[in-house]
Amino acid sequence: MRVCSIIGYKGESLAAPLLVTCLQKMEYRGYDSVGIGTINDGKVSVKKGVGRVEDVDSNLLLRVLPGRIGIGHTRWATHGEVTEKNAHPHTSCNGEIAVVHNGIIQNYSELKSKLIRKGHIFKSETDSEVIAHLLEEDYVQSGNLRGAVQNTAKKLAGAFSFIAAFSDGTIAGARFDEPLIVGISNDGYYISSDVVGFLKYTDRAIFLDNRDIVILNGSEMEMISFDGAPVVRPITQVAWEFGGIDKGTYAHFTIKEINEQVDTIVKSGKDQENKIEQVSELLKSAPFVYFTGSGTSYHCALVAKALLSKYGRRKSDAIMSSEFQYLVNDIEPDSVIVAISQSGETADVLEVVKKAKPVGSKIISIVNVPTSSLARLSDISVHMNCGPEIGVAATKSFTSQLTILYAIIDELSGGVIGLEDQRYRLRNAVKELIERQSVIEQITDEIKDVKDIYVLGRSIHYPIALEGALKIKELSYVHAEGIPAGELKHGPLALIDKNSCILVLNPNDSTFDDVKANAHEIKARGAVLIGIGSSPSDVYDLFIAIPEVDEVLYPLLEVIPFQMIAYYLALEKNANPDYPRNLAKSVTVK
Ligand code: F6R
Repeated sequence: MRVCSIIGYKGESLAAPLLVTCLQKMEYRGYDSVGIGTINDGKVSVKKGVGRVEDVDSNLLLRVLPGRIGIGHTRWATHGEVTEKNAHPHTSCNGEIAVVHNGIIQNYSELKSKLIRKGHIFKSETDSEVIAHLLEEDYVQSGNLRGAVQNTAKKLAGAFSFIAAFSDGTIAGARFDEPLIVGISNDGYYISSDVVGFLKYTDRAIFLDNRDIVILNGSEMEMISFDGAPVVRPITQVAWEFGGIDKGTYAHFTIKEINEQVDTIVKSGKDQENKIEQVSELLKSAPFVYFTGSGTSYHCALVAKALLSKYGRRKSDAIMSSEFQYLVNDIEPDSVIVAISQSGETADVLEVVKKAKPVGSKIISIVNVPTSSLARLSDISVHMNCGPEIGVAATKSFTSQLTILYAIIDELSGGVIGLEDQRYRLRNAVKELIERQSVIEQITDEIKDVKDIYVLGRSIHYPIALEGALKIKELSYVHAEGIPAGELKHGPLALIDKNSCILVLNPNDSTFDDVKANAHEIKARGAVLIGIGSSPSDVYDLFIAIPEVDEVLYPLLEVIPFQMIAYYLALEKNANPDYPRNLAKSVTVK
């Protein structure tokens, strides 16, 4: 699995410094190695190294590569180790073609063996390098660059997008199941895996479709299909707000985004009232509703299912997208699928949607990127409108998607939740929780050396236990597990001793007494107990009080202390909370 950023530029400015800036903007996607290749005077020059863009650039001075044509890459690897030789761009044997790639080439070993038999010498362990050699093989024989790109794209199996730079100054990009976007600026063209890459320079974008190829030759841009037929795609104006991504006065994007929830919780869904009404109508008449998503977005799906059953009196299911894709062919034909995804590019979610459409399902999506692949595949797409989320861990996008689902279910149930009347109360409650930094730091200090953290919750709080544990493990690298509190005695209690730390979601609702009883069972085993709820109790060593709001809205608030604990625990462990090891922001391959 790999999530990389790719970028190409051809224009009047020097390419390398631009490409470095573009890659920095996209670094949240993958960040273990980086490389740039430029074309100047008919010669391909490449520099690459291991580490973050800024570090590699200061060591190798990527930005001084000559030329006004170039390609760049940041990598997030599992296929081939994190080494300089595996970093992109990869070059052909004759050194006249350089390639950057995002995705996975499933048939690469078969292609590689054939190319080796033809005399090609491979320099890396990556699947991506086959693209450079395939292009060379075809181009050298046919002298037809356009044909070589088409034939190469057609030979690749899997999900991919690639950009190739040729020594004659041509740049070509091709996509299949991975995003690729052309940016048109006054001084040239960009080709990128993410609009964020070039938004600093232009907001005019063309979203390529599957099996599209773009060729930048001279000052011309040509778009064709893998079969060579001309392709026309509209130019879209992309929201500039995505370009202005800055940490401001915060130390990290993650803490900035945690703080932004004070506003995003008020804003989410506000300008989408029509769509929220349409979605609620669709859910009312649907024979069956499935909520799906990955990671944090799946946890949101679990809360939505519980809300729809309790307040909307409708049966539904929440299935994580990585599993749902194997079941989706057999679902009821007129089902509605609510696909939740911050990026709108998560491969597992897209796979579910692509399989569900031919079965006759209606697709509703909740996304933060309105131009994303998921939004474009949906019958109705509701925009989270919480601004760009750069920290790899989902924070404000979770509370935004959840708020939108509350709004949908409120609409469907005739206003029983009363979300609108409580928005400002919620806002103040989020603010109060974020300001409780000193308790959070006390807790972080208490748990900084524990090896295992368990998070317990019942009913609608169980998804928050899962989300809380996910935040802790991904940011601080401490083992954390969310457990339904009632399941404790069916097994997990065996794990608990005086070296464990248990965080207990114990709000004042129908789950209160049962959860408190579970807390006592744990206390008897000597573990450190931290309560999160509205009524402090002696059973807890430390307690985080959740400000009073209607019970139904607790999940929106309970998650905030976990985001904060995870952030401060990461700092304690000297981990970078914005860029957790081995992870990437949008997981665009399976
Ligand atoms: C966790 C996290 C991931 C994402 C998951 C889905 O903090 O960020 O678990 O939630 O990869 O991503 P989206 O929502 O973009 O589909």
